Amino acid sequence: MAKQFKKIGILTSGGDAPGMNAAVRAVTRYAIKRGIEVYGIYEGYKGLIEGKGSIKKFAPQDVANIIEKGGTILYSARCLEFKEEAGLARATEVCREFGIDGIVAIGGDGTFRGASDLCKRGISCIGIPGSIDNDITCTDNSIGFDTAMNTVVEAVDRLRDTCESHARCNVVEVMGRNAGYIALETAIAVGATAVVIKEDLKYDEEALLEKIRAGRTAGKRNFIVIVAEGVENYSEKLAKTIQEKTGVETKFARLAHIVRGGSPSLADRLLAARMGVAAVDMLLEGRENVFVCERNGRMTAADIQEAIVIDKMYKSTFTPSVKYPTEALAAYSPEKVEEMKAFCRMRTEEVQELLTTSEDISNYR
Ligand code: F6P
Repeated sequence: MAKQFKKIGILTSGGDAPGMNAAVRAVTRYAIKRGIEVYGIYEGYKGLIEGKGSIKKFAPQDVANIIEKGGTILYSARCLEFKEEAGLARATEVCREFGIDGIVAIGGDGTFRGASDLCKRGISCIGIPGSIDNDITCTDNSIGFDTAMNTVVEAVDRLRDTCESHARCNVVEVMGRNAGYIALETAIAVGATAVVIKEDLKYDEEALLEKIRAGRTAGKRNFIVIVAEGVENYSEKLAKTIQEKTGVETKFARLAHIVRGGSPSLADRLLAARMGVAAVDMLLEGRENVFVCERNGRMTAADIQEAIVIDKMYKSTFTPSVKYPTEALAAYSPEKVEEMKAFCRMRTEEVQELLTTSEDISNYR
């Protein structure tokens, strides 16, 4: 029989993302509607370890007027203590003190790992992907990704105006940690001359320079090159190289945390609302150690451990520091492993298709 929940906690952890508040609101209001008390836990797992003073019972009105707010009203913090046995034991104790028997944790893969550790100690946890990076392989979208991309598009459109006036190039570095999704999709949306992401194993700097030279010869005034921050120590250098080797005056801009703030877009608010409701439903159905995923427009649950393995499988194809999870895969049936591999192939194909699209529509002549 599914566990009967009386009290659940909600927290946000890791990098904040626009739409996290909309998710907090959805979880709170829907859980209360289903007869469950909701406790807001401040500063993520740090607050869970601190207990009293960092945990507050929420009424529906406590989450009023937050749907449009960026950041997270629950705040976020890095918590090394939570990775230690003593920290986890203390967090479990705090849950028992408050009578909290379930937690909805909003964040990225680090947040899900924490949730999984709590599950092992008897606290049912459900994750909700909140990260501008969209780097959680199992979900098509994470909360904050759409808003972050809209912010990039707005900023780059402005840069293009001034590039056009002065006949310049602008290399723009965007966040995304190891993932190139923000760079790739915004590059298409702003009509960038080129995009540089780690996932592009065939990236050719000389071809990029040649494209800029050819564009300039054909009369093109402005050039936008988007670089994902995951391509380490490269963007600023590339700006210098472009100027030196093409003669096109080149500026450099790192958008950094600007991309993480701001009011969430409609798409992120909608995703947050749907994921929040799905997370509570999953808890009520007796699910735990899973996170809510969007797949082909539908809300579904992904096993946290399995998702971590899939993440490693996928990321190892373009990040040398990520090792292919050979040992972890031994725990799964050959059919399951094939299924996981197919999933990673699908993500690779998706990225390749976007790269091709970007290339196919960025020629000037
Ligand atoms: O994961 C979100 C993110 O903004 C990444 O894109 C970026 O690499 C990282 O967080 C920055 O982290 P911090 O806010 O700790 O500097």
